Amino acid sequence: MLRVVVCVSGGGTNLQAILDCAANGTLPGVEIVRVIANNPGVYALERAKAAGVEGLCISPKEFGTREEFNDALLAAVSEAQPDLIVLAGFLVAIPPRMVAAYPNRIINIHPSLIPSFCGKGYYGLKVHEAALARGVKVSGATVHFVDEGMDSGPIILQRAVAVQDGDTPQSLQRRIMEEAEWQILPEAIRLIAQGRVQVGTDRTTRITERQAQ
Ligand code: GAR
Repeated sequence: MLRVVVCVSGGGTNLQAILDCAANGTLPGVEIVRVIANNPGVYALERAKAAGVEGLCISPKEFGTREEFNDALLAAVSEAQPDLIVLAGFLVAIPPRMVAAYPNRIINIHPSLIPSFCGKGYYGLKVHEAALARGVKVSGATVHFVDEGMDSGPIILQRAVAVQDGDTPQSLQRRIMEEAEWQILPEAIRLIAQGRVQVGTDRTTRITERQAQ
């Protein structure tokens, strides 16, 4: 079993997509063992509870320093003994110690086609506001491994979504979630569970063919 910890900050629609796949049998060999939120009372924790998955909140507000928060976050992750950590709308800078402890075992979903509209300051609706302001005709989503940088790790999957006339940041966000994020995040977990994602020394990934059963 691939033990998966999911980290969330908000509504948790990406978490829901993963939970739904786990429930309907399309994530074989995957167990969602814990959901960690950095905000108390976020709806994502309700989703975890409804699915019978342990949820807990580690909020920076509960700690005197960022280091203490980082320690608590790392402890909550490592206690769950994950094989994979999924950042599903987790708007916290991952401490370098955590990246070092889980090399190529942390993945993130980002709501643009990296390297466009990513890095510092690009999260949530801000990504879609910037894409519309630039007038792009295509945007989308990316799942990538997490490294020491921001949105700079090896890319696993991407899916493009067309921008439509009259799109608002909200309508573009929703369509990218529906048509890209909720598809490629579970798909990336599936590929990793099947041992089909290889990271080369050049920091690009290769998806290998599925072995015949
Ligand atoms: C998603 O659109 C995700 O791609 C984005 O936050 C949203 C979370 O929604 N993540 C980032 O912007 C990371 N830089 P959700 O809580 O409904 O899954």
